[in-house]
Amino acid sequence: SLHIDPYEKNWMRLTLVLLVVFAAAVTIAGFALGFQVPSPEERVDPRTVSIGDGPFADPGLREYPDGTYDLYIVSQMFSFIPNAVTVRAGSEVTFYVTSIDVQHGFKIQDTNVNMQIVPGQVSKLTVTFDDPGTYDFICTEYCGSAHAQMYGTLTVEK
Ligand code: CUA
Repeated sequence: SLHIDPYEKNWMRLTLVLLVVFAAAVTIAGFALGFQVPSPEERVDPRTVSIGDGPFADPGLREYPDGTYDLYIVSQMFSFIPNAVTVRAGSEVTFYVTSIDVQHGFKIQDTNVNMQIVPGQVSKLTVTFDDPGTYDFICTEYCGSAHAQMYGTLTVEK
């Protein structure tokens, strides 16, 4: 039969244990803790997405009778449109963010919202804001000379 050095065997066992631990961590994060990967929701044409009659031609907040929101945000050098948004505490907000020029980032401080914004794609993430306060959102991808000025504010009211 195959001879395997005892040390080698231990490393193989450790590797298997690590695989199980990592698989469990991903499963628990996804199904028990609600972690989401911001998946590309839709492909769009960055040259025309902000004109015409699609939702990004009139970006902003849509409120629904059940108290949830959709928030459409257009990213461009060097601003988010809109850059000031107010929602009620406890409300569920689904973000749809796209770019009309280069790659940007979208991170909301003090939350786990952190998405890559790629021209031609719509990034989507759903978040519930329980704690009232002011949350800054910033561009996290270097996009040009005024990258550091690319930010906005989400206000969560009681
Ligand atoms: Cu947009 Cu940096």
